[in-house]
Amino acid sequence: MDKYQTFEYDVIVVGAGGAGLRAAIEASAGGAKTALVCKSLLGKAHTVMAEGGVAAALHNVDTRDDWKVHFRDTMKGGKFLNQWRMAQLHAQEAPDRVRELEEWGAVFDRTKDGRMLQRNFGGHTYPRLAHVGDRTGLEMIRTLQDKGVHAGIDVHMECTIRSILKDGERVAGCFGYQRESGRFVVFRAKSVVLATGGIGRCWEITSNSWEYTADGHAMAMWAGADLIDMEFVQFHPTGMVWPPSVKGTLITEGVRGEGGVLLNSEGERFMFDNVPEMFQGDYAETQEEATQWVQEVIAGKQATVRRPPELLTRDVVARAIRKEVRAGRGSPHGGVFLDIASRRSAEEIKKKLPSMYHQFKELADVDITTDPMEVGPTCHYMMGGIRVDPETQQSTMPGLFAAGESAGGMHGSNRLGGNSLSDLLVFGKRAGEHAAKYASETNSIGEINADEVQRVAGESLKPFDDSDGENPYTVHEELRTVMQNLVGIVRTDEDLRSALGEFEELRERAAKVKVDGNIQFNPGWHLALDLKNMLDISEAVTRAALERTESRGGHTREDHPGSDDEWGKVNNIVRQTDSGIGVFREPLSEMPDELRQLLNSE
Ligand code: FUM
Repeated sequence: MDKYQTFEYDVIVVGAGGAGLRAAIEASAGGAKTALVCKSLLGKAHTVMAEGGVAAALHNVDTRDDWKVHFRDTMKGGKFLNQWRMAQLHAQEAPDRVRELEEWGAVFDRTKDGRMLQRNFGGHTYPRLAHVGDRTGLEMIRTLQDKGVHAGIDVHMECTIRSILKDGERVAGCFGYQRESGRFVVFRAKSVVLATGGIGRCWEITSNSWEYTADGHAMAMWAGADLIDMEFVQFHPTGMVWPPSVKGTLITEGVRGEGGVLLNSEGERFMFDNVPEMFQGDYAETQEEATQWVQEVIAGKQATVRRPPELLTRDVVARAIRKEVRAGRGSPHGGVFLDIASRRSAEEIKKKLPSMYHQFKELADVDITTDPMEVGPTCHYMMGGIRVDPETQQSTMPGLFAAGESAGGMHGSNRLGGNSLSDLLVFGKRAGEHAAKYASETNSIGEINADEVQRVAGESLKPFDDSDGENPYTVHEELRTVMQNLVGIVRTDEDLRSALGEFEELRERAAKVKVDGNIQFNPGWHLALDLKNMLDISEAVTRAALERTESRGGHTREDHPGSDDEWGKVNNIVRQTDSGIGVFREPLSEMPDELRQLLNSE
């Protein structure tokens, strides 16, 4: 133990995206000695990929909006599987969290009379997304980072956490390594907040960058905490499909929020034919109605007609795009067309969507002010995650908290765009507050089990011993292909079972991968370690998907195409057991009548 550098804090926050930063700010404000540990450089986080805005019922643009409508939209978007109390707290608290961010220096686009401007997004009844062009997540990270650094929080950058350390059944800290030196490090703490983001690197086509390898999900499960809703993975409808080097890169939903339309190779706006029964009546049924809506929005008026079907929820739009491509009505590179050029002036496009303009110009040599984009689904967000108490964000393990994408429950089976940014503000704050409270109420820091530290350290160094193993990159690429082909947007019993078979073989190979060189900045070694997280969490997703014999939100079963009322009453809980990764059904908690009534009101 003495050979490892050891730090001691009240609260350790793992992950420095929006949720981690917000949690650390709150924990520190609550008097806790707090550290933020991040795998990458501070500020490099998937939060920046929520480009189009943060959802909050500020009702600056449409006075009909309020938290109740936001709550209903969120529950409806999640097909009513959401943890209702989280959805309620989120809708009620998001406006204050966004205003607070503004007080801390965040700059938002403005209405003519100087209030925060809000735009439309899929599944939101009213324009609700406060934004700064198409760089909202970036502005939020910048603001939170400034605030956090000035609050005196210690930051340990480029440090990957590998496991949660326990004293009996409670948290005692965590263990990891410095990416640059390769040296192991022990963090002792009274409470740990996991805010490690998502799991997108398990799929071939994803908007997620290299950091999102299911670390928090896996560490929580290994430590004995429950996971929830693991079958629900979000494929954002609009990722780049070409050129190959940038396949999967996100194109903000803000393009459709600003009036962009989806077209197939025959020039048809196919979304009109893809409005599910539960949304019928909410969306425009004719081109004329949709056009009027856009004109009213551009004029800054409250819409008097229904919104266009391109603004259906992401699960619906992603499936519709897949259907067009499979029917042979796709674009040359296997997507469909997203056209903003014929709807808005070049000046407006450059002003409202500057990053999209540059992204296409520089990466694909396409001028989106004159030509359509080619787009297709990309794995973007994990609805499932660490099961948490809605008020405190504490997991089922004492002292272990989670926030942001690594926590589950809030979004049910499908998340609405922009709700990720408000989620991380609302629940990041709650996680930090309660982690600090837990630490202050805990007399002594937990004892570190030196044998456990030695075990994880030894296991971590094993890839250097296997002289005839294969390259970790090969195993990773094969895992991503399996997940893309067999556990993608549309699933079947047969495919899911084949995936489980593939994991067994990949697991054997992953246990024997070989890395060259030494522990100093060695990305091959880092990937070799991340493989275990990704394999375990891929299996958790697949087992939960196999169990849920219905289609709902982000989980579509070709062999069970409809939603089943009985499945609408239960969550799948994933837990590590002595015999492997198990899936257990649990009834949803009872929703109070006054909230239930909101779901039915129009
Ligand atoms: O499309 C987007 O701008 C992404 C937003 C989100 O994931 O919330």
